[in-house]
Amino acid sequence: MNLPVRTGAKGEHLDIYYKGKKVREILIELDGEKPDFWVNLDMSEWKGGNIDIKAEDATAAKYLGDLYQSKSPAGKETFYKEPLRPKYHFTATRGWFNDPNGMVYSEGKWHLFFQHNPYGWNWNNMTWGHAVSSDLMHWTETGDAIHPDEKGTIFSGSAIVDRENVLGLQKGNIKTLVAYFTYAGNSGHNWSKDAKTVQAMAYSTDNGKTWVKYAKNPVIPNLYGDNRDPKAVWDESGKQWIMALYLGDANPEHAFALFSSKNLIDWKEIQRFTVEGERECPDFFPIKVEGTNETKWLFTGANKVYVIGDFVNNKFTPITKPKHLDRGNNYYAAQTFFNTPEKNVIQIGWMAGCNFPKMPFNQQISFPREIKLFKDGDNYTAKCMPVKEIAALFSSSHFSVSKKNLSTDDNPTTNYTGDSYVLDAVFDVNDSKGDGFGFLLDGFEVYYSIKNKKLIFNATGMDKKEIDLTPDNGKVSFRILADIGSFEVFANNGEVAAAFAYLPVIKTNKVTTIIRGERVVMDNLSINEIGSTWNK
Ligand code: FRU
Repeated sequence: MNLPVRTGAKGEHLDIYYKGKKVREILIELDGEKPDFWVNLDMSEWKGGNIDIKAEDATAAKYLGDLYQSKSPAGKETFYKEPLRPKYHFTATRGWFNDPNGMVYSEGKWHLFFQHNPYGWNWNNMTWGHAVSSDLMHWTETGDAIHPDEKGTIFSGSAIVDRENVLGLQKGNIKTLVAYFTYAGNSGHNWSKDAKTVQAMAYSTDNGKTWVKYAKNPVIPNLYGDNRDPKAVWDESGKQWIMALYLGDANPEHAFALFSSKNLIDWKEIQRFTVEGERECPDFFPIKVEGTNETKWLFTGANKVYVIGDFVNNKFTPITKPKHLDRGNNYYAAQTFFNTPEKNVIQIGWMAGCNFPKMPFNQQISFPREIKLFKDGDNYTAKCMPVKEIAALFSSSHFSVSKKNLSTDDNPTTNYTGDSYVLDAVFDVNDSKGDGFGFLLDGFEVYYSIKNKKLIFNATGMDKKEIDLTPDNGKVSFRILADIGSFEVFANNGEVAAAFAYLPVIKTNKVTTIIRGERVVMDNLSINEIGSTWNK
């Protein structure tokens, strides 16, 4: 069913009934006269039957005649060809999305669920969208997985693989996927206006294609008004499942809680704590210390603050001060995959903040990153770098500069223009006499000041950002991921990771090397172009 939407039109409620039972409520900015784009309601689950659509409001009723059915969604020929569509960062085909949810690897597929408004450009109708990938690089959106009902809209959460079939639901050899999500009452839908916000479970016995909500939901009752965002993980040493939960803004301390479970259904609270600067979307997982056999636990919230600690006898004890996994302006509600095939830690965040004006979609997520934990003396530090799979996306390679003295007038990238590439560069700071170096990328400046030992980010309309960065063995290196709508900068092999959602005021696609001072030594430079991952 195709529905015409105009962002800014009056939001109205449509109720869909199947066999007399309300099956969907949609809050939509309907406009059959001047639609910006069309959205789509998948009706396949009611195939062969009749549905009734009831408009709760007069304006919506006026446009009911404009809705129409078709075998493929309206506008399909232009999907992923829109001018502002990021080329290799995941975006929804249609509508708003925010947090990545339910990230899990299973039966050869990466699953990415996400907070989706299938029916509009702004936040609303929270539903779990779903996309799958075989290589973590090319995603196929497979249709929404978990829909709102009378118990609430579907807020953020996680997914795991029931490896031991403790739920007893497994069909054949395909392991059951189990999702935990928040049923949010009073979040825009009339049918769940009076529902409490609780934690619930759904499962899939066909590797994510279809989902069934657990009949006895909730699995965790309401503890505080807006408690939310359950994240489950396996604890090998305790042979149990652990869940982290945000107790919500209504909780006086904005605290998080941990729960344990043996059977994936009964969850017992084991601890409460706060992390300075944190709220929403906790993630809690074991991580190996590089080059050792030691395992620590990393706790983080939506605001990318993390602490490292020990998790012993069902108690998490932080041993580091809060630090940041990302230092940019637009990285939020990140989550790690459960069950990665290489047992490494891979995280994706919502690059919150950049709207895509006039597009049928809105918001984007980061490129997948691998988090590694390093120990130096008694200090533990997490470093993030884009996953190595990115190399598979490189189409053509430009420049191979090696050991070059540059001064203010030099611009080795002068002949390059592009909006979707990976730029790698290494500078030798010990050998340099200049003030600093960096790049101006379509109006977005990434600069390293040698004198101040600071990494600086600057662009029109953005507050200048300065981050301490000491050269690593005399060198400063960059890996910069550029795409339509974003820059993700990784300096000194992940010592600094910084995501910025960014659309230039005037698009030039220019890549300019900035050299300030009489001599700056560039060890090497390369730019690898990336084409659209949506061209099939
Ligand atoms: C974080 C968040 C979550 C919530 C979701 C709703 O961005 O506010 O706490 O579950 O978004 O979309």
